[in-house]
Amino acid sequence: MPKSVRKAVIPAAGLGTRFLPFSKAVPKEMLPVIDRPVIQYIIEEAVDAGIEDILIITSRHKKVMEDHFDRHTELEAVLAGKGKTAEADEVRALSELADIHFVRQGEALGLGHAIGTAKNHVGDEPFVVLLGDDIMLNSVLKGMIASYEEHQSSVVALMEVPKENISSYGCAAIEPVVASGGSATSSNLVQVTDLVEKPAVDVAPSNLAIMGRYLFTPSIFDEIERTKPGVGAEIQITDAMLSLLGSQTMYGYTFSEGRYDTGMKIDYLRAVVDFALDREDLAPEFRQILLAAVKREGLA
Ligand code: UTP
Repeated sequence: MPKSVRKAVIPAAGLGTRFLPFSKAVPKEMLPVIDRPVIQYIIEEAVDAGIEDILIITSRHKKVMEDHFDRHTELEAVLAGKGKTAEADEVRALSELADIHFVRQGEALGLGHAIGTAKNHVGDEPFVVLLGDDIMLNSVLKGMIASYEEHQSSVVALMEVPKENISSYGCAAIEPVVASGGSATSSNLVQVTDLVEKPAVDVAPSNLAIMGRYLFTPSIFDEIERTKPGVGAEIQITDAMLSLLGSQTMYGYTFSEGRYDTGMKIDYLRAVVDFALDREDLAPEFRQILLAAVKREGLA
């Protein structure tokens, strides 16, 4: 009987150099998108996909993330005392979202290294990885877990990007998944045949970029331990995955929209605008603000 996917790992120990100066003292994973920090959306996505146990990889400068998912009994009591029961319930619910644990990555040595620190907690189970600054509003994680239940192999989320941008990402070469009858299946699932971290445009094997969600079997930990520092002198998860490809079939789960890389200033702004337009309490007034800005800037 294959083990079900119960655990998630959220690496959130990076230095956030693309979001300075904000990220000097406050983790970029705590950037607010309206009134919730980025990492809360990510945890809610994991819980929605059936995850019960979450390990956040953190660092010594990021204690505020632990506080956000802890009880705040004083605040709850004040809110309850003022009759603000909905607000009190919302604050308490943050500590009950899932079984949330923390482990520290002593030094930001790369994403592969960060995931490696989860080894003892994960143990001998398949698990998902959700990057701490990548919000996804789609059912990619659920689809990846369903694929694991069918094939018991690793799965990685892949999104087509303009070819000229591929050198900012891990890149996958793929083949169609062939069904038992010999024909290619029509789902989002493809088979990964090669992986390269941040390839030059002219040697990139495709324009499919690895995007923020991974599902691994525990054998990834042995590969991470064997992986030497790669691009940027960091221990790259793409390199560990490439070694895994030698011994395990790996699938790619393709998708085309619903992802926000909030670790990049411009994509963070897109997230704030889209999420505000989706909020009944804010959208009417916010639309007026946008319209005025569009007029002022002569955009329409
Ligand atoms: P990023 O590459 O987006 O994060 O990693 P970064 O290194 O903090 O960003 P920049 O390039 O300096 O701006 C994706 C996720 O992996 C975590 C980050 O916190 C982020 O949520 N990460 C990255 C770690 O936990 N440890 C690391 O060593 C590197």
